[in-house]
Amino acid sequence: MKFFVDTADVAAIRELNDLGMVDGVTTNPSLILKSGRDILEVTREICDIVEGPVSAEVVASDAEGMIREGKHLVTIAPNITVKVPLTWDGLKACKALSSDGHKVNVTLCFSPAQAILAAKAGATFVSPFIGRVDDINLDGMELIAQIREIYDNYDFETEILAASIRSVNHITEAARIGADVITAPPAVIKGMVKHVLTDRGLEQFEADWAKTGQKIV
Ligand code: G3P
Repeated sequence: MKFFVDTADVAAIRELNDLGMVDGVTTNPSLILKSGRDILEVTREICDIVEGPVSAEVVASDAEGMIREGKHLVTIAPNITVKVPLTWDGLKACKALSSDGHKVNVTLCFSPAQAILAAKAGATFVSPFIGRVDDINLDGMELIAQIREIYDNYDFETEILAASIRSVNHITEAARIGADVITAPPAVIKGMVKHVLTDRGLEQFEADWAKTGQKIV
């Protein structure tokens, strides 16, 4: 499973990247807003840090505008993936950009039917949003499972990029189902290390070690 970080926070990306935890980065207009940075400048900085794909999202709503913006975004760095929304125009832009050899991430996917269209349009990645499906009392993980089943039925090469990840359990479950990639906020990725028994065990070892009066170095 590949780990993408869902943020435009350069310091957080750098920290995880130094640990070898970053296979790519995803950004979106909301994350750019949160960063308070200029999209082109911050995306360039992220691409300098991370070797893998860095998704940068178009904001036009028509295919022509998306293609124009996508062609500009790919000039930032060779590892840019153009992110387009799962609309009819987004699919047209996906087809055009992927036919030109660019990587495309089709985002805002909320149904298996939409995911089929993304694969047919040549998407490199499709991004089903787990958390936002859960938000409306449907099952985000079931969406991942259905897309996995369909893509496997037909050997579609589009990678399932599980997005809108809000918890460690989301990551574990997406991994069990076989999502190719997860993209999660840095805090959720760092939260994966936590376990109460690890903390309790360490406390015990420290207390016992202190009683030995020994030192390793
Ligand atoms: O990758 C998409 C993600 O940023 C959306 O997450 O938590 O805003 O639904 P969320």
